[in-house]
Amino acid sequence: MQVILIGPPGSGKGTQAKRLSAQLAIPHVSTGDMLREAIAEVTELGKVAAPIVASGALVPDDLMIGIIKERLGRPDAAGGSILDGFPRTVVQAEKLDALLVQRGGNGAKNVRVVQLLVPDEAIVKRIAARRSCGNCGAIYHLETAPPAKAGVCDRCGAGLIARVDDTETAVRKRLQAFHGQTMPVVSYYRNQNLLREVDGVGPVDEVFERIRKSLS
Ligand code: AP5
Repeated sequence: MQVILIGPPGSGKGTQAKRLSAQLAIPHVSTGDMLREAIAEVTELGKVAAPIVASGALVPDDLMIGIIKERLGRPDAAGGSILDGFPRTVVQAEKLDALLVQRGGNGAKNVRVVQLLVPDEAIVKRIAARRSCGNCGAIYHLETAPPAKAGVCDRCGAGLIARVDDTETAVRKRLQAFHGQTMPVVSYYRNQNLLREVDGVGPVDEVFERIRKSLS
Protein backbone atom coordinates (compact mmCIF):
# COMPACT_ATOMS: atom_id res chain seq x y z
CA MET A 1 0.00 0.00 0.00
CA GLN A 2 1.21 3.51 -0.83
CA VAL A 3 0.02 5.92 1.86
CA ILE A 4 0.35 9.69 1.46
CA LEU A 5 -0.15 11.75 4.62
CA ILE A 6 -1.01 15.40 4.01
CA GLY A 7 -1.53 18.02 6.69
CA PRO A 8 -0.32 21.39 7.89
CA PRO A 9 2.88 21.70 9.94
CA GLY A 10 2.43 20.14 13.36
CA SER A 11 -0.73 18.23 12.38
CA GLY A 12 0.80 14.94 13.55
CA LYS A 13 2.02 13.47 10.26
CA GLY A 14 5.34 12.30 11.71
CA THR A 15 3.75 10.99 14.92
CA GLN A 16 1.14 8.96 13.02
CA ALA A 17 3.44 7.89 10.17
CA LYS A 18 5.80 6.17 12.63
CA ARG A 19 2.91 4.16 14.07
CA LEU A 20 1.46 3.30 10.67
CA SER A 21 4.85 2.21 9.45
CA ALA A 22 5.17 -0.21 12.37
CA GLN A 23 1.66 -1.56 11.87
CA LEU A 24 1.75 -1.91 8.09
CA ALA A 25 5.42 -2.97 7.99
CA ILE A 26 6.30 -0.50 5.24
CA PRO A 27 8.89 2.29 5.62
CA HIS A 28 8.15 5.80 6.86
CA VAL A 29 9.54 8.22 4.27
CA SER A 30 9.71 11.76 5.64
CA THR A 31 11.18 14.37 3.31
CA GLY A 32 11.55 16.74 6.28
CA ASP A 33 13.68 14.13 8.13
CA MET A 34 15.73 13.49 4.98
CA LEU A 35 16.44 17.21 4.60
CA ARG A 36 17.35 17.60 8.30
CA GLU A 37 19.75 14.66 7.94
CA ALA A 38 21.35 16.24 4.84
CA ILE A 39 21.65 19.56 6.69
CA ALA A 40 23.29 17.89 9.71
CA GLU A 41 25.75 16.07 7.43
CA VAL A 42 26.44 19.28 5.43
CA THR A 43 25.93 17.51 2.08
CA GLU A 44 25.46 19.55 -1.14
CA LEU A 45 21.68 19.16 -0.75
CA GLY A 46 21.96 20.13 2.92
CA LYS A 47 23.83 23.33 2.08
CA VAL A 48 21.12 24.41 -0.38
CA ALA A 49 18.24 23.33 1.88
CA ALA A 50 19.43 24.74 5.22
CA PRO A 51 18.40 28.40 4.79
CA ILE A 52 15.18 27.48 2.97
CA VAL A 53 14.04 25.03 5.68
CA ALA A 54 14.96 27.47 8.46
CA SER A 55 12.85 30.18 6.81
CA GLY A 56 9.80 27.90 6.46
CA ALA A 57 9.67 28.07 2.64
CA LEU A 58 9.58 25.01 0.34
CA VAL A 59 12.73 23.48 -1.14
CA PRO A 60 12.62 23.52 -5.01
CA ASP A 61 10.60 20.75 -6.64
CA ASP A 62 13.45 19.32 -8.74
CA LEU A 63 15.58 18.68 -5.63
CA MET A 64 12.68 17.07 -3.75
CA ILE A 65 11.68 14.88 -6.69
CA GLY A 66 15.31 13.74 -7.01
CA ILE A 67 15.55 12.60 -3.39
CA ILE A 68 12.15 10.90 -3.37
CA LYS A 69 12.94 9.06 -6.61
CA GLU A 70 16.11 7.71 -5.06
CA ARG A 71 14.40 6.77 -1.78
CA LEU A 72 11.39 5.02 -3.35
CA GLY A 73 13.75 3.11 -5.62
CA ARG A 74 15.28 1.26 -2.66
CA PRO A 75 14.16 -2.36 -2.15
CA ASP A 76 12.44 -1.74 1.22
CA ALA A 77 9.94 0.62 -0.48
CA ALA A 78 9.01 -1.81 -3.27
CA GLY A 79 5.80 -2.86 -1.47
CA GLY A 80 4.78 0.72 -0.65
CA SER A 81 5.62 3.29 2.00
CA ILE A 82 4.14 5.98 4.22
CA LEU A 83 4.95 9.32 2.59
CA ASP A 84 5.08 12.15 5.13
CA GLY A 85 5.64 15.63 3.71
CA PHE A 86 5.65 14.66 0.02
CA PRO A 87 4.07 15.69 -2.32
CA ARG A 88 3.69 19.32 -1.25
CA THR A 89 3.07 20.89 -4.67
CA VAL A 90 1.01 19.79 -7.65
CA VAL A 91 4.22 19.38 -9.68
CA GLN A 92 5.51 16.95 -7.01
CA ALA A 93 2.16 15.07 -7.03
CA GLU A 94 2.26 14.67 -10.82
CA LYS A 95 5.85 13.43 -10.72
CA LEU A 96 4.96 10.99 -7.95
CA ASP A 97 2.08 9.58 -10.04
CA ALA A 98 4.45 9.05 -12.96
CA LEU A 99 7.04 7.45 -10.70
CA LEU A 100 4.55 5.02 -9.16
CA VAL A 101 3.19 4.02 -12.57
CA GLN A 102 6.72 3.55 -13.88
CA ARG A 103 7.60 1.31 -10.94
CA GLY A 104 4.34 -0.68 -11.11
CA GLY A 105 3.78 -3.20 -8.32
CA ASN A 106 1.65 -2.76 -5.26
CA GLY A 107 2.48 0.91 -4.65
CA ALA A 108 0.98 2.17 -7.92
CA LYS A 109 -2.32 0.32 -7.62
CA ASN A 110 -3.00 0.86 -3.98
CA VAL A 111 -2.66 4.59 -3.25
CA ARG A 112 -4.40 6.04 -0.18
CA VAL A 113 -4.23 9.75 0.56
CA VAL A 114 -5.05 10.86 4.11
CA GLN A 115 -5.51 14.51 4.95
CA LEU A 116 -5.13 15.32 8.66
CA LEU A 117 -7.44 18.17 9.60
CA VAL A 118 -6.13 20.39 12.39
CA PRO A 119 -7.01 24.10 12.79
CA ASP A 120 -4.19 26.66 12.69
CA GLU A 121 -4.70 27.71 16.36
CA ALA A 122 -4.06 24.15 17.58
CA ILE A 123 -0.97 23.93 15.38
CA VAL A 124 0.72 26.92 16.93
CA LYS A 125 0.25 25.38 20.41
CA ARG A 126 1.54 21.97 19.31
CA ILE A 127 4.63 23.30 17.62
CA ALA A 128 5.63 25.60 20.47
CA ALA A 129 5.82 22.58 22.79
CA ARG A 130 7.34 20.08 20.35
CA ARG A 131 10.76 18.58 21.08
CA SER A 132 12.50 16.08 18.80
CA CYS A 133 15.40 13.73 19.32
CA GLY A 134 18.37 14.93 17.28
CA ASN A 135 19.61 11.35 17.09
CA CYS A 136 16.68 8.99 16.37
CA GLY A 137 13.95 11.48 15.35
CA ALA A 138 11.46 10.51 18.10
CA ILE A 139 8.83 13.22 18.59
CA TYR A 140 7.66 14.56 21.98
CA HIS A 141 5.32 17.24 23.22
CA LEU A 142 6.06 18.92 26.54
CA GLU A 143 2.44 18.55 27.70
CA THR A 144 0.74 15.72 25.77
CA ALA A 145 3.69 13.38 25.13
CA PRO A 146 6.57 14.32 27.44
CA PRO A 147 9.73 12.20 27.77
CA ALA A 148 10.15 10.27 31.05
CA LYS A 149 13.21 12.39 31.89
CA ALA A 150 13.15 16.07 30.90
CA GLY A 151 15.29 16.81 27.82
CA VAL A 152 16.29 13.17 27.23
CA CYS A 153 14.97 10.80 24.54
CA ASP A 154 13.19 7.75 26.04
CA ARG A 155 14.22 5.63 23.09
CA CYS A 156 17.94 6.33 22.66
CA GLY A 157 19.00 8.59 25.56
CA ALA A 158 20.15 11.46 23.30
CA GLY A 159 19.29 15.11 24.00
CA LEU A 160 16.01 16.64 22.80
CA ILE A 161 15.97 19.77 20.69
CA ALA A 162 13.50 22.35 19.38
CA ARG A 163 13.65 22.51 15.57
CA VAL A 164 15.18 25.62 13.96
CA ASP A 165 12.03 26.08 11.86
CA ASP A 166 9.72 26.04 14.89
CA THR A 167 10.09 29.79 15.49
CA GLU A 168 6.92 31.86 15.25
CA THR A 169 8.02 33.54 11.98
CA ALA A 170 8.97 30.25 10.31
CA VAL A 171 5.76 28.54 11.46
CA ARG A 172 3.72 31.38 9.95
CA LYS A 173 5.60 30.93 6.67
CA ARG A 174 5.12 27.14 6.78
CA LEU A 175 1.38 27.58 7.28
CA GLN A 176 1.32 30.02 4.36
CA ALA A 177 3.15 27.47 2.19
CA PHE A 178 0.67 24.79 3.24
CA HIS A 179 -2.40 26.86 2.40
CA GLY A 180 -0.96 28.31 -0.82
CA GLN A 181 1.03 25.42 -2.31
CA THR A 182 -0.14 22.19 -0.65
CA MET A 183 -3.92 22.72 -0.50
CA PRO A 184 -4.01 22.46 -4.35
CA VAL A 185 -2.48 18.98 -3.87
CA VAL A 186 -5.47 18.11 -1.66
CA SER A 187 -7.81 19.17 -4.51
CA TYR A 188 -5.67 17.19 -6.96
CA TYR A 189 -6.29 13.97 -5.00
CA ARG A 190 -9.90 14.83 -4.19
CA ASN A 191 -10.61 15.13 -7.93
CA GLN A 192 -9.27 11.59 -8.34
CA ASN A 193 -11.48 10.31 -5.47
CA LEU A 194 -8.39 9.26 -3.55
CA LEU A 195 -8.72 11.64 -0.60
CA ARG A 196 -9.74 10.53 2.90
CA GLU A 197 -10.23 13.34 5.41
CA VAL A 198 -9.43 12.53 9.04
CA ASP A 199 -9.99 14.71 12.10
CA GLY A 200 -6.49 15.18 13.55
CA VAL A 201 -7.63 16.68 16.85
CA GLY A 202 -7.81 14.45 19.92
CA PRO A 203 -5.57 11.94 21.68
CA VAL A 204 -2.85 10.43 19.45
CA ASP A 205 -4.32 6.90 19.84
CA GLU A 206 -7.76 8.08 18.73
CA VAL A 207 -6.39 9.89 15.70
CA PHE A 208 -4.42 6.74 14.82
CA GLU A 209 -7.60 4.66 15.00
CA ARG A 210 -9.40 7.12 12.68
CA ILE A 211 -6.56 6.89 10.17
CA ARG A 212 -6.52 3.11 10.37
CA LYS A 213 -10.26 2.96 9.66
CA SER A 214 -9.93 5.41 6.78
CA LEU A 215 -7.36 3.12 5.15
CA SER A 216 -9.48 -0.02 5.25
P1 AP5 B 1 8.50 18.65 7.64
O1 AP5 B 1 9.48 18.06 8.56
O2 AP5 B 1 7.70 17.78 6.75
O3 AP5 B 1 7.59 19.64 8.50
P2 AP5 B 1 6.01 19.96 8.52
O4 AP5 B 1 5.21 19.50 7.37
O5 AP5 B 1 5.98 21.42 8.78
O6 AP5 B 1 5.48 19.06 9.62
P3 AP5 B 1 6.06 18.90 11.05
O7 AP5 B 1 7.19 17.91 11.04
O8 AP5 B 1 6.32 20.23 11.67
O9 AP5 B 1 4.81 18.33 11.83
P4 AP5 B 1 4.06 16.95 11.76
O10 AP5 B 1 2.79 17.08 10.98
O11 AP5 B 1 4.97 15.84 11.36
O12 AP5 B 1 3.67 16.84 13.28
P5 AP5 B 1 4.36 16.03 14.49
O13 AP5 B 1 3.96 14.59 14.40
O14 AP5 B 1 5.80 16.37 14.60
O15 AP5 B 1 9.22 19.71 6.67
C1 AP5 B 1 10.11 20.67 7.18
C2 AP5 B 1 10.58 21.58 6.05
O16 AP5 B 1 11.30 20.81 5.06
C3 AP5 B 1 9.49 22.29 5.25
O17 AP5 B 1 9.06 23.49 5.88
C4 AP5 B 1 10.22 22.55 3.93
O18 AP5 B 1 11.12 23.64 4.05
C5 AP5 B 1 11.05 21.29 3.74
N1 AP5 B 1 10.34 20.25 2.98
C6 AP5 B 1 9.99 19.02 3.44
N2 AP5 B 1 9.36 18.31 2.49
C7 AP5 B 1 9.32 19.13 1.41
C8 AP5 B 1 8.77 18.96 0.09
N3 AP5 B 1 8.13 17.83 -0.28
N4 AP5 B 1 8.88 19.99 -0.79
C9 AP5 B 1 9.53 21.13 -0.44
N5 AP5 B 1 10.06 21.36 0.79
C10 AP5 B 1 9.96 20.35 1.70
O19 AP5 B 1 3.54 16.67 15.71
C11 AP5 B 1 3.75 18.01 16.10
C12 AP5 B 1 3.65 18.14 17.63
O20 AP5 B 1 2.32 17.85 18.03
C13 AP5 B 1 4.55 17.13 18.41
O21 AP5 B 1 5.01 17.75 19.58
C14 AP5 B 1 3.59 15.97 18.75
O22 AP5 B 1 3.99 15.29 19.94
C15 AP5 B 1 2.28 16.72 18.92
N6 AP5 B 1 1.11 15.93 18.54
C16 AP5 B 1 0.99 15.05 17.51
N7 AP5 B 1 -0.26 14.55 17.45
C17 AP5 B 1 -0.96 15.17 18.46
C18 AP5 B 1 -2.32 15.08 18.91
N8 AP5 B 1 -3.20 14.27 18.32
N9 AP5 B 1 -2.67 15.87 19.95
C19 AP5 B 1 -1.78 16.72 20.57
N10 AP5 B 1 -0.48 16.83 20.19
C20 AP5 B 1 -0.08 16.06 19.14
